[in-house]
Amino acid sequence: MLHSSLLAVLSLVVVQALGKVHTLIISGDSSGGAVSTTFNDANFAFKITGNTPINGADWITLVGTSRAYLTFRNTSLVAAYDVSPSGRLTLAGSPVSVPVPVYVGVTHNSSFLFTASYPSGAIATVPLDTHGLPIPPSTTTFFSAPDPLPSPQDQARPHSGIVDITGQYLIYPDDGLDSLHVYKIGANSATFLYDQPSPKRPSGPRHAVLSGFPVVSDWVPRLHVVNEEDNSVETWIMHYSRNNMSLKLQGSAVSTLKVPAGMNVSTAAELLISPNGRFLLASNRDAVPLGTGSIAVFRINPPTAKTALTLISITSSGGANPRSMSLDKTGKWLVVVNGNSNSTAMFAFDQETGFLASTPVANLTGITIPQTVVWLEDRRVPTAIEAEVLRIQSNF
Ligand SMILES: *[C@@H]1O[C@H](CO)[C@@H](O)[C@H](O)[C@H]1NC(C)=O
Ligand SMILES: *[C@@H]1O[C@H](CO)[C@@H](O)[C@H](O)[C@H]1NC(C)=O
Ligand SMILES: *[C@@H]1O[C@H](CO)[C@@H](O)[C@H](O)[C@H]1NC(C)=O
Ligand SMILES: *[C@@H]1O[C@H](CO)[C@@H](O)[C@H](O)[C@H]1NC(C)=O
Ligand SMILES: *[C@@H]1O[C@H](CO)[C@@H](O)[C@H](O)[C@H]1NC(C)=O
Ligand SMILES: *[C@@H]1O[C@H](CO)[C@@H](O)[C@H](O)[C@H]1NC(C)=O
Repeated sequence: MLHSSLLAVLSLVVVQALGKVHTLIISGDSSGGAVSTTFNDANFAFKITGNTPINGADWITLVGTSRAYLTFRNTSLVAAYDVSPSGRLTLAGSPVSVPVPVYVGVTHNSSFLFTASYPSGAIATVPLDTHGLPIPPSTTTFFSAPDPLPSPQDQARPHSGIVDITGQYLIYPDDGLDSLHVYKIGANSATFLYDQPSPKRPSGPRHAVLSGFPVVSDWVPRLHVVNEEDNSVETWIMHYSRNNMSLKLQGSAVSTLKVPAGMNVSTAAELLISPNGRFLLASNRDAVPLGTGSIAVFRINPPTAKTALTLISITSSGGANPRSMSLDKTGKWLVVVNGNSNSTAMFAFDQETGFLASTPVANLTGITIPQTVVWLEDRRVPTAIEAEVLRIQSNF
């Protein structure tokens, strides 16, 4: 039997020789579940390690490394799962009915979850207990305001939700009404504050990310929004007052495509920020002129610059319909699900320069119509003090 310290030395040598093995979870429409995978970043081995059969699993949000929330579009449910270290999911508590969810998020202190329903024009919140398990029923709001523009701009279509850095505000991008619904977070649910209309219509706000953290020295909190109707990204500076937060546009929206696609080509989908806070990546599901999906990379300029974003590159996503993508916490690996190609691509990324490799180092096949991909790893989140520094800096 080997001495334990010798074992530790040996395993260190093995890790250095083989590189780091990352675990990812991918939901697959036709594979009927959540598929655990590993990616070895030394030899680029990217493989399926397990499958949790879950009918209709769609969006996945991880909280830490042992809790996940999944949405079920065709059964109108949201549910909590326990996550094993290998990425296996086990249902925890009971699924809760919410209007056709396409997205689920959770508040900073896991007091409640929120869902957005693109198909039915609604949002919902469900309180969580101290273990992060949902307590039914949901509180639901249907946005009834009709929209005169043609389909899909025919009604409210909230597509996602995002909590600001202070944990006090919840913003829902609404693809149909071309606005951001701003809510104040309370103990178990959120209260409507106001609507921030998009500067131009139709634009189709879909997903959003926050910036400002961790570049805390002279940056302020900002919200970057990807618009799926006009295929652009716009940047809002977040100004905080005592009981409110307002959004001021920085410059104008920047296109995610080389050639404008025209209003009826809805292609922009996912938006990511590099872990160091300096670059944005937007996916285009069916990009012009590449023919397949593509990824646009933008440099984020300081809040005082005239334009918030500068386009660096647009490269192929390695397949068709890149609806979801994710960067690992070191900012070195970008994983992209190419749903219509039944493949998942792994790209090298350099978050110091914003350089995204033009071809993947590996393609994972065997998951049909992959939907959402997440890295199973702990992410650093801002401390309350860092959040407060950013909030105060917003009054520049
Ligand atoms: C939901 O969708 C999944 C995957 O497309 C399918 O396997 C499942 O049977 C569907 N469930 C219902 C109730 O339609
Ligand atoms: C969670 O945060 C919200 C917003 O700050 C607050 O109202 C609520 O009381 C907090 N809940 C717990 C259990 O700390
Ligand atoms: C909060 O700020 C928004 C945007 O500036 C404004 O429209 C709204 O009236 C404010 N709400 C309150 C309660 O102060
Ligand atoms: C988009 O499609 C609608 C309905 O087919 C059509 O009326 C409109 O002219 C199109 N707009 C553009 C910019 O192509
Ligand atoms: C992807 O898989 C689905 C389901 O098996 C199949 O219908 C489709 O043809 C496949 N697409 C490609 C590009 O292979
Ligand atoms: C992955 O697939 C893309 C698109 O088909 C191809 O260009 C690339 O060479 C493949 N990479 C590997 C390592 O197989």
